[in-house]
Amino acid sequence: MASQPIVEAVGLVKVFDDFWLRAKARAVDGIDFEIRPNEIFGLLGPNGSGKSTTIKMILGLLRKTKGRLSVFGRDPGDVSVKARIGYLPEESYMYRFLNPLETLDYYGKLFGIARSVRRRRSLELLDMVGLEGASHRAVGEFSKGMSRRLGIAQALINDPEFLILDEPTSGLDPIGTKQVKDLLLDLGRRGKTILLSSHLLADVEDVCDRMVVLYGGKIRASGTTQALLADTNRTMICLPRVRAQTIEKIDALVRAEEGMAIERVEAPRQRLEDLFVQIVEQARVEQTSTSGALQGGKTAAFLLGDHERDVPEEIVADLQREPRSSTPAHAVVANPPSEPANESVLSDLIASATPPTRVKPTPAERPPTGNPALDRQVIDDLLEKPPEQRG
Ligand SMILES: Nc1ncnc2c1ncn2[C@@H]1O[C@H](COP(=O)(O)OP(=O)(O)OP(=O)(O)O)[C@@H](O)[C@H]1O
Ligand SMILES: [Mg+2]
Repeated sequence: MASQPIVEAVGLVKVFDDFWLRAKARAVDGIDFEIRPNEIFGLLGPNGSGKSTTIKMILGLLRKTKGRLSVFGRDPGDVSVKARIGYLPEESYMYRFLNPLETLDYYGKLFGIARSVRRRRSLELLDMVGLEGASHRAVGEFSKGMSRRLGIAQALINDPEFLILDEPTSGLDPIGTKQVKDLLLDLGRRGKTILLSSHLLADVEDVCDRMVVLYGGKIRASGTTQALLADTNRTMICLPRVRAQTIEKIDALVRAEEGMAIERVEAPRQRLEDLFVQIVEQARVEQTSTSGALQGGKTAAFLLGDHERDVPEEIVADLQREPRSSTPAHAVVANPPSEPANESVLSDLIASATPPTRVKPTPAERPPTGNPALDRQVIDDLLEKPPEQRG
């Protein structure tokens, strides 16, 4: 049943009533969407737009007021669905006096995972999220970002088929944010279905295959990230640095062939995120110490599908005693086909959400410093200095 959507919502409504049963907030107001197997799906919207409410209905934590909602083809309240889902709430509450290993062990137990398997998974996850150095510290002492990392590890302990992350990068530094994004891309490539909610445009843009944009409980735009963000009115040509006279010749050619001039000639500037990552990585190379989260990043082996392959004898005995979570294998399928962009919403979205000339490369294609944002100074430089003086 590879083609069955993981989540299907039709005319979904959630109204919060007050004590007198008068409608207090129409948090979700008749939305339709589906999340397909193996895709990374984004719920993007400003504060109060209905993202968390939608997620809580998918999890069966809130009852819908109206409409249809199915998860794995079943009612969201169905217990069999829960074992197949991993969830990171927007605020995770951890037991302050437990350390991260005990925390993961506790959640593993809730899923009925055997002790030895729990132990192995917990260690791999802590390593993956960069908390192995803090594995014996009380969670109550953790910084916000460290807690977030632990929350992500906790959401993965049952090796879920469907991972739901409500604002996964909130409180994370740029390095942590990049690692979470890389992790999500990795998990997505390996067949997990992921629902990611965020009001951070870059999070959704960098990792999601498809998205809906919510505002006031309604869907304002939906489609593939590529289709929504493509600026089909411009062409960007990227070259190694060239001389001013070459640009003049190109300009003359474009005028002759296309009847239009070059709009701008500028040098790409790296993103602040990339600069920040470089600075911190340099500090690490120089072995500047930190007592916070470490780099982490290596995806836990059990999430990559080789879990339990090398299970020792004692674990087998263990497994026979305790029920295991269901972790069926699933095939990786190609990304869903593109959908046509909704032109009217697009222009708004592009104007407010992205740099004007940026066309999203797929994450795999993105170069390390890949932002074509442009720097006036460098062009001036380019146009004025003779070639032998240029760096
Ligand atoms: N338990 C509740 N009782 C009453 N109203 C609620 C409740 N939960 C959410 N709401 C309202 O529903 C609307 C949507 O809230 P929701 O938490 O889904 O937004 P969100 O998109 O997740 O926002 P944020 O980015 O701030 O997390 C808001 O107006 C909010 O006040
Ligand atoms: Mg929310």
